[in-house]
Amino acid sequence: MEYRGYDSAGVAVLDGAGTLIVERKAGRLANLETELDVTGRDRFAGTAGMGHTRWATHGAPVDRNSHPHRDTAERVAVVHNGIIENFATLRAELEADGIELSSDTDTETAAHLIARAYTDGPAAGDLPASVRTVCRRLEGAFTLVVTHADEPDLIVAARRSSPLVVGVGEGETFVASDVSAFIEHTRDAVELGQDQLVAITRDGYEVTDFAGEPAQAKPFTVAWDLSAAEKGGHDYFMLKEIEEQPEALANTLRGHFDHGRIILDEQRMSDQDLRDVDKVFVVACGTAYHSGLIAKYAIEHWTRLPVEVELASEFRYRDPVLDRDTLVVAISQSGETADTLEAVRHARGQKARVLAICNTNGAQIPRESDAVLYTHAGPEVGVAATKTFTSQIAANYLVGLALAQARGTKYPDEVAREFAELEAMPAAVQKALSTVDHVRALGQQLADSKAVLFLGRHVGFPVALEGALKLKELAYMHAEGFAAGELKHGPIALIESGLPVVVVMPSPKGRAVLHAKLLSNISEIQARGARTIVIAEEGDDTVRPFADELVEVPAVPTLLQPLVSSVPLQVLAAEIARTRGYDVDKPRNLAKSVTVE
Ligand code: AGP
Repeated sequence: MEYRGYDSAGVAVLDGAGTLIVERKAGRLANLETELDVTGRDRFAGTAGMGHTRWATHGAPVDRNSHPHRDTAERVAVVHNGIIENFATLRAELEADGIELSSDTDTETAAHLIARAYTDGPAAGDLPASVRTVCRRLEGAFTLVVTHADEPDLIVAARRSSPLVVGVGEGETFVASDVSAFIEHTRDAVELGQDQLVAITRDGYEVTDFAGEPAQAKPFTVAWDLSAAEKGGHDYFMLKEIEEQPEALANTLRGHFDHGRIILDEQRMSDQDLRDVDKVFVVACGTAYHSGLIAKYAIEHWTRLPVEVELASEFRYRDPVLDRDTLVVAISQSGETADTLEAVRHARGQKARVLAICNTNGAQIPRESDAVLYTHAGPEVGVAATKTFTSQIAANYLVGLALAQARGTKYPDEVAREFAELEAMPAAVQKALSTVDHVRALGQQLADSKAVLFLGRHVGFPVALEGALKLKELAYMHAEGFAAGELKHGPIALIESGLPVVVVMPSPKGRAVLHAKLLSNISEIQARGARTIVIAEEGDDTVRPFADELVEVPAVPTLLQPLVSSVPLQVLAAEIARTRGYDVDKPRNLAKSVTVE
């Protein structure tokens, strides 16, 4: 689970004889492992336990802020994901009662409150009831997992707007933020709903809502096994995930074209609703946002609907014009990104319909949406999105075709033709992967650069933005993506001798005019001393004189070009980062799921 946060880690185990054993350490999980080797792992024999890896929000990543947190008497241990927004009030209340808090975290307040509820009042002696009492007081998004030294066979977990799944094994039960934590032991899982609490024992689980009423949680079987969440001989998950892109794309497309029609995974809106759509908003963050920028070209072209693509974190704060005929497409690998989730809630609050594109079955964003298309790319452990990016592009195109089909802006045979072109993409991406060795060698040469610029036009522009994002987040190198046409409106001032500039070329046949204009742009930067690294369609000889380095990708239809041209940019960023000595899977300050706004 370390991909969710790696600022610190901790474990708590109930020894079965009334003692809670806890160890916490700042830094990577490996630091905690070393600490356990020194202090002795045998101490951790017990009946039930929990572990946590943290991405710091309240309080610096130091030992005392690491989870699990305990109450003063050290009877309760709590781990937490999310933010308790009213923690300042709760903290003040506890301090007024004479309780001294030992950390700067919001989480510790929950540990003290649960201990107090377990000792006094109507929930006394009942751990699930004590946790419920406290959850009702908490504001914000949270998943809590709680143990009490007096309850050696019980773990209680609760969630609001943060993920929580139960793994049901034989004679063992698990709770986690993500199934990959227990996939080694069981593929039978149960997904908890909003404001639900689960009490687990070795024999099973019981779900209630925060009022204590029995509640239904949704059982499911995980479609992949442990090997999908392991490195499989690669140095990094990211490299494995880059190579998995052909398979991931095939999985995204599988089953979505049947009897001549595009089909979504879940559709809680009618065909008439789709026909009534008069405007599309795409909301997403980071890489998912870049996939949305690419979607705009296809959806507008195929449906003639206006499409606005907006960063989810900006969307709801600027009063966008939404009504029941607006379709909001929310793209999120994790399905739990707080900014995107809040954008979805805002859109639904304004009566707009929401269609989610997501890689995580049953995550909160698809649960709160009117329709869902899962990318089925499999687990992505590397913090940098790679296979889920290309899968999102394919899924976005399926949404575009579904809209075109419903609205009649494309004939069925045209939809079938577009789908067939998409189906040819796994093979094209496989071919693009043959550039890996060349790009790696290039990455090694560029590892000492101060900065890298990325240029593109049309669908190549979002590809340039994504190439720059990958380099920033992995190699901590200054990188910017620009629309090549913007160059002379300012960014060209950045060009200096030897500056690497990566140019994503359009097809000379598919986009001849843009191709010619981009060649002029390259001449302009070459004249100013830039070192040009050109990603171009194979056989595009016109580009050779302009390329200090040429990386060829297969010729594919224009709208599909991002699927192949992204591949070398992913490899380039990973290799530059690796050469600079960074952990490609766990870039500093980042976490895979950003569950706080
Ligand atoms: C990509 O490499 C990032 N780590 C990040 O930008 C990510 O795409 C973004 O946080 C959105 O995540 P989501 O798809 O899970 O919503």
